[in-house]
Amino acid sequence: MPKGYSRLQIALHWIVFALIVLQYVLHDAIAEAWEAFEHGREIAFNPLVFQHVSTGILIAVLAFVRISVKMKRGAPALPEEEPALMKLAAKVTHLALYAFMILMPMSGAVAWFGGVENAAEAHEIMKPFLLALIALHVLGALYHQFVLKTNLMDRMRTADKG
Ligand code: HEM
Ligand code: HEM
Repeated sequence: MPKGYSRLQIALHWIVFALIVLQYVLHDAIAEAWEAFEHGREIAFNPLVFQHVSTGILIAVLAFVRISVKMKRGAPALPEEEPALMKLAAKVTHLALYAFMILMPMSGAVAWFGGVENAAEAHEIMKPFLLALIALHVLGALYHQFVLKTNLMDRMRTADKG
């Protein structure tokens, strides 16, 4: 098992973080375009719609890259001093984050390219869940940093440190 995350793993973590922020901040154009589609109106080309679709697909691609890197190289073990229940919570949260990084773009793509309303609904239902998961994830990281004082954040900043 590696002592820390590699530079590639760290870079991918923060690039995907930034891309997800973009998806939430710039969602107006895609929401409007979808409404136009639902009402049978013509959808004019809008660079922000293109941004939502392409950034979303990129997030899914990078999620697959992350999973394959993790399968080949592995990830550092969770800090030893972490209580067992928190270790489990961290594992489940990471797994769920990977799942959402794929399911979110997938539902969006099925809605957008297939015109499937149920997929758009699933996309919208997942929206607050992904946010809640991210909040939980960040809280966990902050709890480590400031309460357990494991210096966990450093693992997502400096490559290959234990
Ligand atoms: C992880 C990637 C993605 C995230 C975080 C994300 C996030 C969002 C958010 C926050 C909204 C706004 C919903 C609202 O205004 O209530 C939205 C809407 C939408 N997104 Fe995405 N999206 C992602 C990927 C994609 C992809 C790849 C596509 C298409 C190929 C897509 C298609 C849509 C469509 C059609 C809507 C409007 C329908 C709706 O509101 O559910 N999304 N998305
Ligand atoms: C300010 C925001 C964030 C902070 C401070 C943060 C911090 C961290 C830290 C410190 C780790 C390493 C945990 C360990 O060493 O065991 C980690 C791992 C991880 N983060 Fe984040 N993160 C943030 C945002 C995100 C976002 C937006 C996502 C994706 C949706 C994400 C997905 C993940 C995943 C999947 C892992 C596990 C990596 C693995 O071992 O496979 N993080 N994060």
